[in-house]
Amino acid sequence: MSARVVVVTGASGGIGRATAVAFARRGDRVALLARGEVGLQAAAEDVRAAGGTPLAVPVDVADADAVERAADRVEADLGPIDVWCNVAFTSVFAPFSEISAAEYARVTQVTYLGFVHGTMAALRRMRARDRGVIVQTGSALAYRGIPLQSVYCGAKHAIRGFTESLLTELKHEGSNVHVTMVNMPGVNTPQFDWVLNKLPKRPQPVAPIYSPEFVATSMVWAADHPRRRAWWVGIPTVYTITGNKVAPAFLDWYLARTGISGQQTDSDARPDDPQNLWRPADGEGGRDFGAEGRFTEGSWTRDPQVWASRHHGVVAALTGAAAVGAAALLGRRR
Ligand SMILES: NC(=O)c1ccc[n+]([C@@H]2O[C@H](COP(=O)([O-])OP(=O)(O)OC[C@H]3O[C@@H](n4cnc5c(N)ncnc54)[C@H](OP(=O)(O)O)[C@@H]3O)[C@@H](O)[C@H]2O)c1
Repeated sequence: MSARVVVVTGASGGIGRATAVAFARRGDRVALLARGEVGLQAAAEDVRAAGGTPLAVPVDVADADAVERAADRVEADLGPIDVWCNVAFTSVFAPFSEISAAEYARVTQVTYLGFVHGTMAALRRMRARDRGVIVQTGSALAYRGIPLQSVYCGAKHAIRGFTESLLTELKHEGSNVHVTMVNMPGVNTPQFDWVLNKLPKRPQPVAPIYSPEFVATSMVWAADHPRRRAWWVGIPTVYTITGNKVAPAFLDWYLARTGISGQQTDSDARPDDPQNLWRPADGEGGRDFGAEGRFTEGSWTRDPQVWASRHHGVVAALTGAAAVGAAALLGRRR
């Protein structure tokens, strides 16, 4: 496949950084959007080392005009945008009653409206050319709220809502612009080091934890297969979404019992822990947080569910053949 122009928001760390590198491995021209200049420069080096052409564009995705200007710059420097991946986010780890209205508004502006702004900038350009793909980084928590993450779960549910509306409008138009959502499980990223944390202990993802490099392959896969409206990445995403459809009250009970302690490590939180809500966390110490967080040991780098989800046809054919074989065997025994 020839090199494409790909925009990744939230590319200075975590899944966005790993996604940028995954596209770069194919030789793509990758625009890296985030605020932290240290992380952006390091991400640009990663992209170059992987074989891609980087363009670092510092921007706060909460600012719609700034995102629009960033898109202009990408097209001027790299060419027409083929793929736009919305990844950037922030949050607050705290019970609902300990999050201020200003914090709620800021997380919503970055995590929800940041995706809206990115989608607007991408669509303005793609619709005029009648081609392009927008990939929304979703979550199992876009379907199911959990304790200590009310502001995040609200934003992720909202992303799913506006994306589904947009998808129906594009279908109605017969547009060749596609939008798809990649719903992630818990991933080992720096978010657990730099998201504003009001808990007594340092936070951790809900187990099992996947590696950002592994889930980034699903972002690239979704960009290549954008006619599928949504992707579920990892077995925990499947059981969270389906479990919530079948027995939401059971999940209420289960999460009330396990969700508070399960999201905290044994180490105490400290007042000087990094925070990225209002400004990037790499600013003061000049530290590059990278793609991976502090849970690399034991994080999952493969999952058969991901293969099965990408190859529905093969799975259906094998299941059908097994069912026919079993029926034939039973018939012969009678
Ligand atoms: N990690 C998980 O367990 C998990 C699970 C499910 C879904 N997800 C989804 O995956 C995506 C990435 O998560 P992650 O864990 O990789 O996050 P992360 O490690 O915290 O990285 C967040 C990225 O967003 C950027 N960012 C934050 N605020 C920004 C702002 N105002 N403007 C522009 N960029 C901003 C950060 O860079 P700067 O601070 O330099 O701006 C960083 O590049 C999110 O959409 C999240 O919902 C993650």
